[in-house]
Amino acid sequence: MMLRIPALLDASGVAVIRGIIDAAAWTDGNVTSGSQSAQAKRNMQLPEKSPAARQAGDLIMAALEKNGLFFSGALPLKIFPPLFNRYEGGMNFGTHIDNSVRFVPGTPVRVRTDLSATVFLTDPADYDGGELVVQDTFGQHSVKLASGDMILYPASSRHHVTPVTRGARVSSFFWIQSMVRDDGARTMLFDLDNAIQGLRRKVGDTEELITLTGFYHNLLRRWADA
Ligand code: NI
Repeated sequence: MMLRIPALLDASGVAVIRGIIDAAAWTDGNVTSGSQSAQAKRNMQLPEKSPAARQAGDLIMAALEKNGLFFSGALPLKIFPPLFNRYEGGMNFGTHIDNSVRFVPGTPVRVRTDLSATVFLTDPADYDGGELVVQDTFGQHSVKLASGDMILYPASSRHHVTPVTRGARVSSFFWIQSMVRDDGARTMLFDLDNAIQGLRRKVGDTEELITLTGFYHNLLRRWADA
């Protein structure tokens, strides 16, 4: 499932983050790549341990914590500390699949990458190109969202970023280990949760809704690692 999270950050939240990261020192993006994706990747990145990356990353983590749509769609167990990249002057990232397991630097924590996330931090009118293109069994999906929006997509999918031919595309990117590792099971839980919320708004908490809500939690209990 691909899921857009609109306005994860509002305009002032984006401005604060941009203020922190734009003033920091950027380096070649290949520092986080596996050997295959290193050949495909041409972008700039903030070093993972840089104070600016950690300060801005904490602001994104705080926004994720407050976002119900993110929780319902991702059912997060662990979140890799957000990273930041920038594409400009024709930079791109060729087709690749993200590494399956990532170590959080300086810690013993490993994150299985069930979901990949990109938070757009530039107004789309300010750059050309820079679409995130995700391939799945339904074909190719081109994603270029408003500043502050986030896209979640299965980390198992092939994807690429098209060349940025005008301006600069600044984003945050990271990975999520979900409590429910299977994308199909997680998607069914998300659909069920949405249907229950919609019914509750229409008819209130009926006996049947209590049963359905129990059904959701019992499926989650069956499938979740917590
Ligand atoms: Ni990737």
